[in-house]
Amino acid sequence: MIRKLYPYTRGYRALICFGILCSAAEAVLEMLLPRVMALVVDQGIPSGNTDYILKMGGLMVVMSVASMALGVGAAFLAAIAGQGFGANLRQAQYDHIQAFSFRNIEKFSTASLITRLTNDVNAMQMTVTMGMRLLVRAPVMLVSALVLSVTISLRLSKVFLVVIPLLVLLAVLLIRHVGPLFRQLQERTDDLNLVVQEDLSAIRVVKSFVREDYEREKFQKRNRALRSISEKAFGFVTLGMPAMMLITYGTIIAVMWYGAPLVNSGELLVGDLSSLYTYITQILMSLMMISMIMMMLSRSIACAKRIVEVLEEVPDITDDSAEEAAEVTDGSINFDHVSFKYSEKSEEWNLFDIDLHIKSGMTVGILGATGSAKSTLVQLIPRLYEANHGTVRVGGRPVGDYTTQHLRDACAMVLQKNTLFSGTIRENLLWGNENASEAEIKAACAAACADEFISRLPEGYDTDLGQGGVNVSGGQKQRLCIARALLKKPKVLILDDSTSAVDTATDAKIRQAFATQLPDTTKLIIAQRITSIMDADLIVVMDDGRVMDTGTHAELMERSEIYRDVYQSQQEGVELHG
Ligand SMILES: Nc1ncnc2c1ncn2[C@@H]1O[C@H](COP(=O)(O)OP(=O)(O)O)[C@@H](O)[C@H]1O
Ligand SMILES: [Mg+2]
Repeated sequence: MIRKLYPYTRGYRALICFGILCSAAEAVLEMLLPRVMALVVDQGIPSGNTDYILKMGGLMVVMSVASMALGVGAAFLAAIAGQGFGANLRQAQYDHIQAFSFRNIEKFSTASLITRLTNDVNAMQMTVTMGMRLLVRAPVMLVSALVLSVTISLRLSKVFLVVIPLLVLLAVLLIRHVGPLFRQLQERTDDLNLVVQEDLSAIRVVKSFVREDYEREKFQKRNRALRSISEKAFGFVTLGMPAMMLITYGTIIAVMWYGAPLVNSGELLVGDLSSLYTYITQILMSLMMISMIMMMLSRSIACAKRIVEVLEEVPDITDDSAEEAAEVTDGSINFDHVSFKYSEKSEEWNLFDIDLHIKSGMTVGILGATGSAKSTLVQLIPRLYEANHGTVRVGGRPVGDYTTQHLRDACAMVLQKNTLFSGTIRENLLWGNENASEAEIKAACAAACADEFISRLPEGYDTDLGQGGVNVSGGQKQRLCIARALLKKPKVLILDDSTSAVDTATDAKIRQAFATQLPDTTKLIIAQRITSIMDADLIVVMDDGRVMDTGTHAELMERSEIYRDVYQSQQEGVELHG
């Protein structure tokens, strides 16, 4: 785990080393202080040598100030290193996630990816910051206090032979018990975050279905679960404290018991005995610290595992097979006996044996019931998913031959569930092509019939859309998404039910504009309304993941029963409403 995360300390390694040195020096100074004190008590005071006492007192002040300065410095360095490590981890995860395909993202779920980017990284950050201090201080304190105690009195130090194993045993028992609890704690935090992320991003749906009470209860349940598990985990931790304190004071009493006669008989000096007390407390404190660190580590290991999972996920769509220079030369699309399923484990094919040949510049309508895999079919063209069998070709070459950049620039797709980003309309449109000129933007909006509503907005193209484009209606949003795709000047344009919220007259106008302005672009239009695709060069009828029939409107009316049924049911609707 450490080996896997080590690279992300890049840029902070010198800082970490220096911080560790500071911490160690601080601990050593702290340990030597009681020794100086003992010198004052045992030699300065009995001899009445004021000079000596003042000199030693001065030394103690200098040592305290130096150790404080080192401590502050170490804490400062640790904080910087922790934050830097966290920032590196976040950036690395985020960059890696950008390379994920839809399938990779579905594997983790968006909510979990967000938790891993924020919550888990925070835990790691804290581990580095605290660990750098405590992990150094505790062993240094332990070892130097032990050595100093032995030099003071070997006989009295034998008490540690009993106490330390006892404390270690206690710590091990605690950690073994608390470790799994901390892992559960992390999972419960996940659950809670999932609810929060899901509900807050869908708050409009929650409100429109008046499901606030239900959601509140769902949150309360997970919140309680999280509370009870943390009560349990931290309860054990606090229970451990009094037990350790008991051992500490017991040891001090034992040392007094055996130490007092030694002082009386002159074998041990009073100052030595008092510094021995300090060392005992310090030894026991450092053992407590170590057990705390162990508990913290057992928590952060859970987080580290989750982060490494993201970092090690292999993006399943890469440019490995691509030829850097390959460009999509025309808009022809060929499916050669393509089969596809979303999950390797699933028995059913989502697309089965698709054989479809589309010439460059054609307008193709795709029709089928919901769930007939229309969206699935077109998502294979820009290689959002990869076919399991058969080949998808664009411009005569398999899609894997192109870099995703080249392929997706050439195949613009307006997804069924599309989004705009917060920012102005112009910023959103430039997403399609950041170098587009004003005239090109205007032309694209005109073709998508978006210009008429944009010109009516008080701020026109500079209107802020709000998060996810909340400030525009569904149909306006769809037209902006189409304009954004048009700005790419694609060879293939795919509209996945992209005019469902646009009125029929505007829909017809958009199609008219496509026909005149994009004669060479292959246009794939998925639509519910038959009128949207009636005049297409080719209509593909889909059902249950298969292509049932292809042909023009006239041909299909003649031979396809499904097509005729859909046509007639929609015509009846028109007559009824008309
Ligand atoms: N991301 C996905 N993961 C798993 N199954 C999916 C996914 N998207 C769609 N499906 C399944 O694939 C089938 C076809 O869906 P889709 O292509 O969206 O249909 P359409 O666009 O024709 O309504 C459906 O049965 C659906 O449940
Ligand atoms: Mg669909």
